[in-house]
Amino acid sequence: MRVVLGVSGGIAAYKAALLLRLLTEAGHEVTVVPTAAALRFVGEPTWAALSGRPVATDVWTSVHDVPHVRLGQEADLVVVAPATADLLARAAHGQADDLLTNTLLTARCPVLMAPAMHTEMWSHPATRANVALLRERGVSVLEPASGRLTGADTGPGRLPEPEEILDAALSLVAGEDRSSAVDTAARPDGLEDGGVSPAEAAAAQGSLLGRHVVVSAGGTREPLDPVRFLGNRSSGKQGYALAEVAAARGARVTLVSANAALPAPPGVDVVGVETALELQEAVRAAVPGADVVVMAAAVADFRPRDYQGSKIKKTHGPGQEASAPTIELVRNPDILAGLVAERGDDPAPLIVGFAAETGDDTGDVLTHARAKLERKGCDLLVANEVGRDVTFGKDDTLVHLLRPGTDETRTVGPATKVAVAGAVWDEVGQLLSARPHVGAGR
Ligand code: C5P
Repeated sequence: MRVVLGVSGGIAAYKAALLLRLLTEAGHEVTVVPTAAALRFVGEPTWAALSGRPVATDVWTSVHDVPHVRLGQEADLVVVAPATADLLARAAHGQADDLLTNTLLTARCPVLMAPAMHTEMWSHPATRANVALLRERGVSVLEPASGRLTGADTGPGRLPEPEEILDAALSLVAGEDRSSAVDTAARPDGLEDGGVSPAEAAAAQGSLLGRHVVVSAGGTREPLDPVRFLGNRSSGKQGYALAEVAAARGARVTLVSANAALPAPPGVDVVGVETALELQEAVRAAVPGADVVVMAAAVADFRPRDYQGSKIKKTHGPGQEASAPTIELVRNPDILAGLVAERGDDPAPLIVGFAAETGDDTGDVLTHARAKLERKGCDLLVANEVGRDVTFGKDDTLVHLLRPGTDETRTVGPATKVAVAGAVWDEVGQLLSARPHVGAGR
């Protein structure tokens, strides 16, 4: 996820450094936006070193990049910790006098504020009114903890512990608001209570709370002998991003990973496989009870008919000519089509396919993708446009999302694979909101 961590000027800013650590260790890409006052408590080098990213406070840094608009627009989550009385006031009144307040105005993702201040400031009618106004607009404002404050005094106003803020932030992304006194008609995702259940409403916004999803990722390898295989260029990045985002949105995730050299996303069960047949077996084992299967893996269509138990030699003996062996291939099963066939008339699991496509003389990418969607019979097809310096091994990609029965297509990108994963789960959430839960709860 792309996270903006706003830090305003309170002594608890040091605790935000721990929160930053937790977020980055969980694999999130965090840009820290401290206010000028925050930098008096914790300096820019700390934020830059811990986030591994540049840090800006005002809107006059890297202006060519338009950061005052871009940061908010691209964020999947904004967390402000600590949120001081001054920051709450500026945010409530729509001021845009530094990078953080600009970002808060441009963000359309969930926003979580973790206030920290002295009890008197927290309970002052001005702060109460600002908090109420922010909550009314859908911002999630945590209650501060009670306890020892900066000096000898105690009372409500302490910043909640970094672990609690992280937990609340991830729940918020998953569609569950942990802040108190939130008006349900003004949820952070802007949903109205129009007679749908909270789970349905959350699913419509891409929340996967209580769902079990199975994602395949990477590229299969079909061994020829103990040292050689037929493989492909898939890095697994897209599948891993899908698993990471699904977990962050509250799903139980099984990631069937074929030869991807990537770290396991936090909270995801990873099942490692090598070949297409192993991948098929692992996916089939995970599918019963699953709500969604996303086949992001690049599965080899063919495998060598025979596996040579010892290394195939260049020559057959002394003085013999080097001869090139002929490798006979046999077809692998189409796992995706098999899942669709096995599902029959059952609505579950929802099945998502991927297709790496290029345009040619017989049609453009979309024409080929639509034909594939029909052939495969899945509920959503994510067509990767290849050959435009995007896709394999890259961090950015361009996809078209196609559903059966409609010519409407949603194009996403070029965008990060995490952003594309978010868009895929948004679509899946909408499809799921019309279906009952299948996946076992956590
Ligand atoms: O037909 P094509 O290989 O382009 O289809 C790609 C989609 O089908 C992907 O979702 C991929 O995971 C899946 N697939 C499969 N089994 C195969 C080949 C592809 O499930 N043997």
